[in-house]
Amino acid sequence: MGKKFRVFATCDIGESIELLRRRGYEVEVYPHAEAPAKKVIIEKVKSGVDGLITTLRDQIDAEVFEAGKGTLKVVAQIAVGFDNINRGDASRYKVPFTNTADVLTEATAEFAFFMLGALARRMWTAEHLTRENKWSYWHPYLPFLGDEVTGKTIAIIGTGRIGLAMIKKCAGSDMNMLCYDPAYQNHEFVGAIQETMDLRHARGISKEKTWIKYSTLEDALAQADFVSVHVPLLREGETQTPTYHLFNERTLRMMKKTAFLVNTSRGPVVDEAALARALRENWIAGAALDVYEKEPLPADSALRDPAIEDRCRLYPHFASAGRTTRLSTDPDKGMAGRCAQGLIDVLEKNYGGDVTKMPYVVNKEAFGKAG
Ligand code: GLV
Repeated sequence: MGKKFRVFATCDIGESIELLRRRGYEVEVYPHAEAPAKKVIIEKVKSGVDGLITTLRDQIDAEVFEAGKGTLKVVAQIAVGFDNINRGDASRYKVPFTNTADVLTEATAEFAFFMLGALARRMWTAEHLTRENKWSYWHPYLPFLGDEVTGKTIAIIGTGRIGLAMIKKCAGSDMNMLCYDPAYQNHEFVGAIQETMDLRHARGISKEKTWIKYSTLEDALAQADFVSVHVPLLREGETQTPTYHLFNERTLRMMKKTAFLVNTSRGPVVDEAALARALRENWIAGAALDVYEKEPLPADSALRDPAIEDRCRLYPHFASAGRTTRLSTDPDKGMAGRCAQGLIDVLEKNYGGDVTKMPYVVNKEAFGKAG
């Protein structure tokens, strides 16, 4: 290979770093587990790196692109979500950025499904009972019961890749589904799931007939026993259909008192202050969260209130945290592999150097003929 590319990775992404080095890249990895301060990123970019490997913890905006004017050629993000990258700024500075969609779809959906199960069946409380040696008898209903997931109705909020994968998991548990998406509906997929539901019933695999359909947000929230959130974080001004605080006092109050909320998307989609109140005042039965308005979750977060701990499950942005999902060097299996490949595609001008043809580039709109 001719030119030796310089890359700064704000985080170690495992073996893929070694593979880039073996390709002749000069890769510097930020040596701490915590994210670097923005000024560190800017300093590295100013020093003339060709590529940045970023995580969702890094704020990448005009300041960074300005620092890399003329030198920074690509930002490769190891995540499917990219709300930390200012798309408008990237496009204005004509820097393509890549993400790692697809490879974490099933991992994230299954984690959402497990969170839902943990919440509904009160697994955390049940394990505490056992570990703390407070389990003193088998009894039909004491000291507490949970709720079965099978056969219940779930609202799937957001029917992109992960929402559709969640639909598959829920279909396997004979759930009925109300789908809502402010921007994108996949009626073909939903229709195909209904066909599989009908077949399962016709062949006696499912006892009850089950159904799936698109609905309004209001109907979905009013009828669902579970609500699972799978929308990207979009703020006012970024889109016609913002999702910031989509779950707020008004929408939380639309849910049934017996319903559970699961969020594996982005923290700011849920107004945490309103959610903590909803849990304290029993507007809803419980919530399981993997993402937060501020991460890591602050020590003084209202969500840590011991008064709601039996109905509030908290996880550390962990839904994609499968070994293969996070670290496989294979771009079709792992976030690390896909992230490295996104970087390589741009730097090595794969696809004839046509950014619009590169599968992992997000802001293709900036590189079309008119772009
Ligand atoms: C994780 O949150 C991701 O966006 O990949």
